[in-house]
Amino acid sequence: MRASEVFRSDLLADQVVVVTGGGSGIGLAIAEECAALGARVAIGARKAERLEGAAADLRAGGATVFAAPLDIRDPEACDAWTAEVEAALGPVDVLVNNAGGQFPSPALHIRPKGWRAVIDTNLNGTWFMSQAVAKRMQASKRPGRIINIVANMWRGFPGMAHTGAARAGVVNLTKSLALEWARHGILVNAVAPGVIRSSGLETYPEAVRAQIETEVPKHIPLKRLGTMEDVAWAVAYLAGPPGRYITGETLCVDGGQAHWGTVFPV
Ligand SMILES: NC(=O)c1ccc[n+]([C@@H]2O[C@H](COP(=O)([O-])OP(=O)(O)OC[C@H]3O[C@@H](n4cnc5c(N)ncnc54)[C@H](OP(=O)(O)O)[C@@H]3O)[C@@H](O)[C@H]2O)c1
Repeated sequence: MRASEVFRSDLLADQVVVVTGGGSGIGLAIAEECAALGARVAIGARKAERLEGAAADLRAGGATVFAAPLDIRDPEACDAWTAEVEAALGPVDVLVNNAGGQFPSPALHIRPKGWRAVIDTNLNGTWFMSQAVAKRMQASKRPGRIINIVANMWRGFPGMAHTGAARAGVVNLTKSLALEWARHGILVNAVAPGVIRSSGLETYPEAVRAQIETEVPKHIPLKRLGTMEDVAWAVAYLAGPPGRYITGETLCVDGGQAHWGTVFPV
């Protein structure tokens, strides 16, 4: 099912939606669904070739797309990239901070470089992009939406302590920015996916992937992994008119996983 069968097909007409990490997986699904709802979309990530492939697929589907390499860990690059998006597509209406990454490791084995890399991408990068986009929204007196993709770390994140800490930081940042930027008409929310069948899972070791496919669903109340569309529809809801009175919230898209089950055993 496509977003245009779930929502009005012009839900995001005339909107410019930025999706970081939009060259693959959940980010690409968000870009596809937003484009299907009428948005012009901008996607950024580090790997230019994959990004261009994704942009070509989006354009083949009829979307208006800006795509250029972006490293969200570099604040100056975030500013310059946002300026390029605006020159190409017009002022940004919606920022989806989806880019992220981590690696499974017992906390005792995480080296300083690995810890810093995960915090830098998932927490600092989200902040740099949010500030770059919000400054422009505020300067042009245009309202906007920021949607942060986080993770299910509500009961701790054993095996991925670095990303749990970073995502918890983003949830708190979401509330701070929602309150500070409400006066500018900028609504800030987060979406917390559970375990989603996506390209992100391909980066994990074979044993972890096998466990995710076979064991993990048994511990999710709805007894299945999530799909990328499950996440994209939540983003579309928060990006469009249905989300106009929601700010500072985190919407869990996880089949009830936040409340029950030992998905990652200790
Ligand atoms: N799949 C799940 O079960 C799940 C659950 C909870 C949360 N999430 C989160 O959802 C998001 C999307 O995940 P996914 O499963 O679709 O995985 P994915 O395909 O690995 O997506 C991550 C994207 O982020 C981009 N990225 C990473 N570092 C970046 C940087 N420094 N600057 C710009 N872009 C960067 C990657 O592209 P480049 O490598 O080309 O930069 C990639 O396109 C991630 O934040 C992930 O942690 C996923």
